[in-house]
Amino acid sequence: MRKKIVAGNWKMHKNAEQTEDLLNELIAQIPTETIAQVIVAPTFVNLASAVDHLEFTAIIVAAQNVHQAESGAFTGEISADMLTGIGVNTVILGHSERRAIFNETDGLIASKVNTALKHDMTVIFCFGEELKDRQSGNHFNIVENQLKDGLFHIENTAWEKVVLAYEPVWAIGTGETASPEQAQDMHEFIRETVRKAFGSDIAEDVTILYGGSVKPDNAKEIFSKPDVDGGLIGGAALNAKDFVAIITAI
Ligand code: PGA
Repeated sequence: MRKKIVAGNWKMHKNAEQTEDLLNELIAQIPTETIAQVIVAPTFVNLASAVDHLEFTAIIVAAQNVHQAESGAFTGEISADMLTGIGVNTVILGHSERRAIFNETDGLIASKVNTALKHDMTVIFCFGEELKDRQSGNHFNIVENQLKDGLFHIENTAWEKVVLAYEPVWAIGTGETASPEQAQDMHEFIRETVRKAFGSDIAEDVTILYGGSVKPDNAKEIFSKPDVDGGLIGGAALNAKDFVAIITAI
């Protein structure tokens, strides 16, 4: 079912003590009446403690990545089984930093999607164009291809485990955000692309988040657009005041 979601991607920030401090602040400050499903994605080493810490709350813990193989000689990697074993059932895949810095291709992301779904995990599937794509007017094409090559091989029934996160690369961590109109145009296009491939029910039900420099002062306007169902937040998720203000904006 389509939900309102605000997810915080903590990237490689916050040691154990800082993780606990921020979680305590969130527990204290997120209004109980919020309609948003709140998700936090701390770094791997702090996932287990975050799950414990949030046990009696409605906040969900997500991982920032997972390896595509079940197990094996993959030094430094983390499997889906390891994540679900500690109570982490949500994973962010295809983030632009993983695509750009760690060379993750659509094909690799597709196999990670398969592994995560096989383990009954919820996938927050990230995609979005680079600045050069938007400048050349190619952004709709790029987004369509990322969806088709990374995600559209899944079964209809798997869609209930998928959240889409449109994140224009030029807006991530830059302080420059897509205008609410640009976000809405792309979200509408994304929903239409899903509709063409999987039908209206799935297209109407899928949650589509916007990510890229969402801050307390722009969140409300972006979230007010009909096809924007929430946000994936980086920098502003690292302090409770801003993150809670964004949650409240929904
Ligand atoms: P940002 O990051 O909010 O700092 O732009 C968003 C993201 O990377 O998901």
